[in-house]
Amino acid sequence: MEIIILKLGGSIITEKSGTPSFKDRLFDQIAKELSNLKVNMLLVHGAGSYGHPIAKQYSIHKGYSNSNQLKGVTKTKRSMLSLTLKIMDSLIRHNVPVFPFLSSSCMVAKSGRLVDVDLMPFKILLDIGMVPLCSGDVIADEKTGFTIVSGDQIAVHLAKELGADRVIFGCDVDGIFDSDPKINPTAKLIDRLTLDNLRDMTFRGESLTTDVTGGMSGKIKESLDFVSSGGEVIIMNLNKPQNLTKLLNGDDVQCTRLIPK
Ligand code: IPE
Repeated sequence: MEIIILKLGGSIITEKSGTPSFKDRLFDQIAKELSNLKVNMLLVHGAGSYGHPIAKQYSIHKGYSNSNQLKGVTKTKRSMLSLTLKIMDSLIRHNVPVFPFLSSSCMVAKSGRLVDVDLMPFKILLDIGMVPLCSGDVIADEKTGFTIVSGDQIAVHLAKELGADRVIFGCDVDGIFDSDPKINPTAKLIDRLTLDNLRDMTFRGESLTTDVTGGMSGKIKESLDFVSSGGEVIIMNLNKPQNLTKLLNGDDVQCTRLIPK
């Protein structure tokens, strides 16, 4: 059966600004949709307000420099765990056989890039129809002590290593636009981007957020290798009910597809 990796972006599962808050009603709808899909699914969730603000406060993404950061690492892990539990609770309500993974227990990075990922438990559990769930996380780093790996990096890494067919980035916008749709109402959605288009793209005006990982440009950078080796990457809106179901049924859905050529 086809393996699909779905990244649940922080913007779709949490209110991104302010104190940590989970979008429970929206996620419940998504969980219901996931329960009806006939695919082997692996889920990776982002952090939103549960991760980025604390990580930034303690400069966790810059690696270890002083012992004051350790408290911040613990607090970030605690907060991310509480988000994972909320996601699990909703998935369990809808009978999705979710199996949580702590990324930090099965992944190691070197200078912010994943170098060692224990794939075996993912393979075994996917094979019997469980739905592994992991998240962007603070993990051990051979060079910098600790680092933050984005759910985007994890999603694409697992896709390559597990031979997944598709990576879907679920966001709160329809895909990649020719300008920022949250600022410019006439922004146009780009439905297909080839590798040549992607390499030429420059991303301006994205650095004003509280994110310690990459935003939309991060998704693209992470995806390049996977797309060039024949994988499909889709960036789509999970705010729209049934969007995922339609996409997986092959119906027309507004989204951006990253394709080789
Ligand atoms: C970030 O994960 C993880 C932490 C800050 C601990 P992501 O980069 O995948 O999170 P979102 O989707 O941007 O919120």
